[in-house]
Amino acid sequence: MNMSVIEITNLTKDYEVGFLRKRKVRALDGLSLSIDSGQIFGFLGANGAGKTTTLKLLMRLIFPTTGSARILGHDIQDMRMHQRIGYLPENPYFYDYLTAREFLDYCAQIFGFPAPVRKKRAADLLARVKLDEKRWDTQLRKFSKGMLQRVGLAQSLVNDPEIVFLDEPMSGLDPVGRREVRDLIAAMRDEGKTVFMCSHILSDIEVLCDQVAILKKGKLAQVGYLDELRRKTEGPNRMEVMATGTDADSLHKHLPGSEIAPTPRGLRIEIASEDEIEKVIAALRQAGGKVVSIQPVKQSLEELFLD
Ligand SMILES: Nc1ncnc2c1ncn2[C@@H]1O[C@H](COP(=O)(O)OP(=O)(O)OP(=O)(O)O)[C@@H](O)[C@H]1O
Ligand SMILES: [Mg+2]
Repeated sequence: MNMSVIEITNLTKDYEVGFLRKRKVRALDGLSLSIDSGQIFGFLGANGAGKTTTLKLLMRLIFPTTGSARILGHDIQDMRMHQRIGYLPENPYFYDYLTAREFLDYCAQIFGFPAPVRKKRAADLLARVKLDEKRWDTQLRKFSKGMLQRVGLAQSLVNDPEIVFLDEPMSGLDPVGRREVRDLIAAMRDEGKTVFMCSHILSDIEVLCDQVAILKKGKLAQVGYLDELRRKTEGPNRMEVMATGTDADSLHKHLPGSEIAPTPRGLRIEIASEDEIEKVIAALRQAGGKVVSIQPVKQSLEELFLD
């Protein structure tokens, strides 16, 4: 049975803003979450929803106004637990004049690893995040954003953590890089690690995550397995018929009142259920068109997100 490795209880954070006249802005409002071990948990939300705030609270970089959290059974005030977790900040800060290899060696040193272990681990991790070996001894100030992001990811794994917290791990990466990082995150799960990742790149979340939570203006709006969330908000079995050989106007005459939309792949006809398929096929025949495909309409995460 999976046990919960992150327990967040009623976590709330107010930031104090303004200089002369101070006021409070509630960035996180009573968040409670429980995350099981061995999964990739996606933490979603629009800009400013409070994702980074949540991670910073968990990492103890800022302190909650109220509420508490436990990681691996320890209260987040207990700093010993940091030996067992990894963290990729949203905007990582790097020592510009260190090379990638030196930087990782330095990170490993913080965890107290002896020199031979550090050397091997730095090389293993740089290879693992697919940083071009020719650049391992280049100073970080000469790195592109995508290359830095890889170094940041390598750094988050330096202590072989049980839980990895990633704040926008795909940011700054091109499509190939995103794919590689996606595979890397999936491999973390295969090794038994738990991954807690923030993102607003929904397609990445959709292919990677087991469960997701959606944060809206500091409040938890949805949480659960992706399939369950979809099922909850989806109507009954809507179907999509794709057809070619005719145009929307001609088809409309034979199929009044239907949703018909031209797309680059042909006409898209959305119907309320399977029962209407026969009707659509008959109408298409009359209009001189033919069916290309019929499939259930799956609500994308994007629609769920915008709901
Ligand atoms: N240090 C700060 N002082 C004051 N307000 C802050 C501070 N940091 C964040 N906020 C505010 O808290 C809210 C949540 O910000 P947060 O960075 O957690 O959002 P986010 O979900 O990570 O957004 P993004 O997707 O843009 O990274 C925002 O309204 C932001 O303006
Ligand atoms: Mg953020």
